[in-house]
Amino acid sequence: MTDLTIPSTPTRFEPPADLAASANVTAEAYARAESDADGFWAEQAERLTWAEPFTQVLDWSDAPRARWFVDGKLNAAYNCVDRHVEAGRGDKVAFHFVGEPGDTRDITYAELKDDVSRAANALTSLGVGSGDLVAIYLPMIPEAIVAMLACARIGATHTVVFGGFSAEALASRIEDCRAKLVITSDGGYRRGAPSPLKPAVDAALSRLGGQSPVDHVLVVRRTGEYVPFDDATDLWWHDVVGSASPEHTPEAFDAEHPLYVMYSSGTTGKPKGILHTTGGYLTGAAYTHHAVFDLKPDTDVYWCTADIGWVTGHSYIVYGPLANGVTQVLYEGTPDSPHRGRWWEIIERYGVTLFYTAPTAIRTFMKWGREIPDTYDLSSLRLLGSVGEPINPEAYLWYRSVIGGDRCPVVDTWWQTETGQMMISPLPGVTAGKPGSAMRPLPGIGADVVDEEGRSVPNGSRGYLVLTKPWPAMLRTLWQDDERFVETYWTRFADLGYYFAGDGAKKDEDGDIWILGRVDDVMNVSGHRLSTSEIESALVSHPRVAEAAVVGAADETTGQAVVAYVILRSGDGNNGEALTQELRSHVAKEIGAIAKPRQITIVPELPKTRSGKIMRRLLRDVAEGRDVGDTTTLSDPSVMALIANRDTESA
Ligand code: WTA
Repeated sequence: MTDLTIPSTPTRFEPPADLAASANVTAEAYARAESDADGFWAEQAERLTWAEPFTQVLDWSDAPRARWFVDGKLNAAYNCVDRHVEAGRGDKVAFHFVGEPGDTRDITYAELKDDVSRAANALTSLGVGSGDLVAIYLPMIPEAIVAMLACARIGATHTVVFGGFSAEALASRIEDCRAKLVITSDGGYRRGAPSPLKPAVDAALSRLGGQSPVDHVLVVRRTGEYVPFDDATDLWWHDVVGSASPEHTPEAFDAEHPLYVMYSSGTTGKPKGILHTTGGYLTGAAYTHHAVFDLKPDTDVYWCTADIGWVTGHSYIVYGPLANGVTQVLYEGTPDSPHRGRWWEIIERYGVTLFYTAPTAIRTFMKWGREIPDTYDLSSLRLLGSVGEPINPEAYLWYRSVIGGDRCPVVDTWWQTETGQMMISPLPGVTAGKPGSAMRPLPGIGADVVDEEGRSVPNGSRGYLVLTKPWPAMLRTLWQDDERFVETYWTRFADLGYYFAGDGAKKDEDGDIWILGRVDDVMNVSGHRLSTSEIESALVSHPRVAEAAVVGAADETTGQAVVAYVILRSGDGNNGEALTQELRSHVAKEIGAIAKPRQITIVPELPKTRSGKIMRRLLRDVAEGRDVGDTTTLSDPSVMALIANRDTESA
């Protein structure tokens, strides 16, 4: 990680007085949640409109399998859209959409209701219903949100696959969840040019062949580029959805009805299908969005720059903000297209007040220089958020000062795909901000830093981050792999009933929490989660590779970068640069461009313990330019000298 040394006396920024004076949530919430957790969460659930009330807040009798808001029934899409229209806010803009080429579209809540209803009718006419899985593979266009909400409306479970993932990755997800329908587009705009998507769907389906569970592919026309069309399966969105009725009565589903599956990297090669359900998830997303952003839905304009393909897009573009009825910006493209001031231009144009992005983006802007944001009027901003990886103090200070004009508090929000909602974060009207610290668990949330035995560590010490009590948006299981669910999260501290987050953390002298990064074989590259073994399997699937070891090495911009060490098959000559380039492209093809190694070093041997386990710690030392640590447990300590030598050659 970049400069994560914790200063002995961290800078503190107290909450701005005016924000504190009118804050949505005050310090009292912590005590309230502590003394009556059920009452506290029941109150938060009342933010939603229930078709049938719940009879019990939490059923934890079959822990770690939770049931929240037992017997309650609701429709997630109704909560995100219809009820705002019914309350007379139909003319309010839900999204200011900004396409990368410069096209814009304002979509009101009333229009969104019609669009979602049409799509719901269209999905029903295609035979999709409650309990079916729908894969969504789309760029950042309004149809992505409409598609998600249409699924929710009819009780179909969506699985959104990030548009940057390859055909192979898409195929394995479709196969794992047995998706009946794929919703995609001809393409989207990236870096000033149309970038195709539909061909990857075709490749995924032909890879699955006779095993493919997919009946139809629904294609949104975005770029207008030519796409091959198979009349047996493919349908245009504008035909099927465009001709459908905008009248649709939402059905109420059980609070525990599966809302979506989001695949995320774990410590093995196979991605985990994280399952979120309806009532608790929506409660957690809506409450935290209200509390942490101090959301004032009548006046705020909110922009979260995440992609819809990640959990941040699910909880903090779609479900939380729409349940809260706010106006948002939705931007299709990259921050540097057509120029490096694009984001700041958008903030100026729409008067964005609440802005939520990732440290990797902030570090990129720092590199580009403050002259760029300085030429825009960013005075509408009143609060800044950060998510996805530890924010180093330098980036925090730059963000707060250059973007936030030294007046906006920064909320550093720690959470995960699994948690569904923010868990550790300052409350902007209550908690001081300390650059680099996510501070305290939110009201109602239990988090601690513990040692190997699960004992809470004293202030000033490091340990493992755990969550000590259930929360409404918690994952319910891993799709068709309940055993792995229990083993991954609930076994390490089973006696204490703690959830093991997989992150290392430190409590500072005040007891505030600093996240130190993953302790398992998961990397965090530009805020994207990648597993070392997933990339290793991609590398060894190349015919010339015998063995591969992948580590995440500190990188100034992306937080961590993928660095690979590869042993070639015997008898195979090493043709240097051409081969490493080929291997990099191979990984991009197998997983997606985000997983491309920054560096690949061909080595004669990998450092292994006597039991044959690759010692990634030593490879990380080499990749980060440190002297290698203790090598005494290696079966052959001379290996490290050979590797260090190759590394200098390849650098
Ligand atoms: C990391 C993204 C430090 C952490 C919402 C976690 C963070 C993983 C922060 C989850 C933060 C996320 N400070 N680290 N504010 N937010 N992380 O599932 O390692 O894509 O376990 O969810 O990102 O990544 P995921």
